[in-house]
Amino acid sequence: MPVRSPDTLRVIDLRIVTELHAKIREIPYGTGSRFTPEKGCLPGIRMAFLDFIVNWVDNPNSERSLVLFGQAGTGKSSIAHEVARRFDKLHRLTSSFIFLRKEQSKREAYHLFTTLARDLSDRYPSFKAALGEVIKDNTSLRVGTRDYPTLFQSLILEPLKDLHIVGPILIVIDALDESGDVTGGNELHKFLAKTSQDFRRTSVC
Ligand SMILES: Nc1ncnc2c1ncn2[C@@H]1O[C@H](COP(=O)(O)OP(=O)(O)OP(=O)(O)O)[C@@H](O)[C@H]1O
Ligand SMILES: [Mg+2]
Repeated sequence: MPVRSPDTLRVIDLRIVTELHAKIREIPYGTGSRFTPEKGCLPGIRMAFLDFIVNWVDNPNSERSLVLFGQAGTGKSSIAHEVARRFDKLHRLTSSFIFLRKEQSKREAYHLFTTLARDLSDRYPSFKAALGEVIKDNTSLRVGTRDYPTLFQSLILEPLKDLHIVGPILIVIDALDESGDVTGGNELHKFLAKTSQDFRRTSVC
């Protein structure tokens, strides 16, 4: 067997990493899904709400999900964009996903999970390596499914399972009711309610 020089090995390593990155980039990313800093709250407004949410994020004993309910126009989206803006500034926001009814064709409901997988892999090199292992020989997982449980299990939980991540993985989602959930009902809501329990079980906090 021919002996490879260290330089040849490095070139092969680089090629493998580049191929892995290209495969991860095949996973669909939610176009325009990111929060918009300018849509945050006006200074001095909604302070009690914002303080409550910041404390919720910082408290390791908090429940894993926090849902804002309110009538139309009461400022839920402003709060969501503001929370995302503040934590992003501190490099503590992992992902944000803003649904908009008029953009349902560009931003489908299942993109929530694929976008989160891409954001996690941008943020944590160890997650990227683990995700690469899961999807590298599996085209159907990269581009062939919209099934929430499959995507969540394969693109999020599986790569996370042996990783130790310090601090909370913060995800801000706005306007779930505008997600255009293909089930036509509230399956995405139900699925997210269940998955927040799975997050607790993986001890990721
Ligand atoms: N704290 C705030 N700071 C700045 N603007 C606000 C605030 N709260 C509400 N607004 C303004 O009020 C309008 C409605 O707010 P927003 O879109 O956040 O409400 P919402 O609860 O998300 O409504 P919907 O249920 O229709 O999505 C927006 O134009 C927004 O700019
Ligand atoms: Mg809103």
